Amino acid sequence: MMMRRVVSGLAVAAFASAAMAQQPDTFGRQFIQREGAPDDRLAFLGQRLFFDARLSGTATTACASCHDPSYGFAEPRRVSISDNGQHGRRNAPSLLDVGFLPTLMWDGRFRTLEQQALSPFQRGEMGIGVDHAVQRVSSDPQYVQHFRAALGRRPTADGMARALAAFQRTLISPVSRVDRFLMYNEPAVLTPLEQHGFYVFTQRAPCSNCHQLFPLRPDGKVYSRPLLTDFRFHNLGIGYRFGGFADTGRYGLSHLIAEWGAFRTPSLRNSARTPPYMHDGSLATLEDVVEFYNGGGLPNPNLSPLIRPLFLDGYEKAALVAFLRALSDPDCEC
Ligand code: HEC
Ligand code: HEC
Repeated sequence: MMMRRVVSGLAVAAFASAAMAQQPDTFGRQFIQREGAPDDRLAFLGQRLFFDARLSGTATTACASCHDPSYGFAEPRRVSISDNGQHGRRNAPSLLDVGFLPTLMWDGRFRTLEQQALSPFQRGEMGIGVDHAVQRVSSDPQYVQHFRAALGRRPTADGMARALAAFQRTLISPVSRVDRFLMYNEPAVLTPLEQHGFYVFTQRAPCSNCHQLFPLRPDGKVYSRPLLTDFRFHNLGIGYRFGGFADTGRYGLSHLIAEWGAFRTPSLRNSARTPPYMHDGSLATLEDVVEFYNGGGLPNPNLSPLIRPLFLDGYEKAALVAFLRALSDPDCEC
C-alpha cells in the first residue's frame, strides 16, 4: 500500500517536470530528463509512461509499482503482484544500469529494452493489453503532444516501447565507494573490513567467477564501472524442492538440460537497496545470501560446479557483506 502511495506521488510529479526537478531528496533525481534534445524528449516521455498508473486496469499499477525508485527500481516484495492481485513467480530485478545488459529477464528471454517494454501488458502485470494502453494514452492531449515532439507522430505501441526503453537507459547507478576504490585508485575509501571483503569476493570464495567485475559484452563493449555479472546463466539450486523446480529458468526457454534451473547472474550494484534476493525473492538479507553460498548452494542434479561449500569464518562472512554494501551509492542508508 505504501508503495502505491509513493508511486502515485511520483506519477503526479511526473506531470510537472519543474516540481520534480526540485525534489532533492528523491533518489531518482539524477534521472530527471529535461525537455531538450530529441533523445531527451523520448526519455522524458518514457519517464511519464513509466510512472503512470493510468496505464493499468485498476489505475493503481505503474511500471514503478514493481520497479520502485526508492528500492533501486526493484521491489521489496518476494514476488511481484500483478494489477489484478495475482502473485507472479519472480522478484522484479533492479532497473539500474539495465541499459547495459545484453539479455533481459531472469531467463534472458529478451535482448533489448524495446522488446521487453510491452511484455508487462501482454503478461497481465498491468491488467490491460497494449492496444488499450495506447487508447488511454491517445485520449490525453498532453501525451499526444509529447509523442509528436519526441517521435513526430501520434501514440503507438511501438512509440511507447521506444520511449520506455529510452527512459530506462538513463537509469545509471551513482558512483559507489567500490567504484572509487577500483577505478580512481582511492584505497582509503574502503574500510579494512570492506577491503577484506573484496579479497573474499575475488580470491577466497571467489564470487567474481560469475559476478565478474568488468564483463565483456557480446558486442565487445565493457561498462565503465564494475557490473558484477558474467551475463550468463547458472544453477545455484534456488527454488529446488521435491526433486524439481517450480520455475525451471533458462531451461523453459532453451529446453537444454544443461540450463535446467539456471538463472541469469544479476549485477550486484546497489543490491543493499534491493532485498529480497534471488529470482524468487526467497533470501531476505545479504547475510542470508552469504550463508547460502557458504553452505554450497542447494544440491540438485544440475548444480553449477562453481558452487561448493566455502567454510568462511565469521569475520570473512561479515567482510563479504560489508563489501556488498559498499557497492551501493553513497547516499543509501542501507
Ligand atoms: C507487477 C509487477 C511488474 C510491473 C507492473 C512491471 N514489471 Fe518489469 N519486471 C517484473 C518482474 C517480476 C520481472 C522479472 C520477470 C522475469 O524474469 O520473467 C521484470 C523484469 C523487467 C525488466 C528486465 C530487467 C532485467 O534486469 O532483466 C525490465 C526492463 C522491466 N521489467 C521493465 C518494466 C516496464 C517498462 C514496465 C512497465 C511497462 C514494467 N517492467 C512493469 C515485474 C513488473
Ligand atoms: C556460479 C556462478 C555464481 C557464483 C560463483 C556466485 N554467484 Fe551470486 N548469483 C549467481 C546467480 C545465477 C544468481 C541468481 C540465482 C537465482 O536467482 O536463481 C546470483 C544471485 C546473487 C545475489 C542476489 C542478487 C539479487 O539481486 O537478487 C547476490 C547478493 C549474490 N549472488 C552474491 C554472491 C556472492 C557474495 C558470491 C560469493 C560468495 C556469489 N554471489 C557467487 C551466480 C553466482
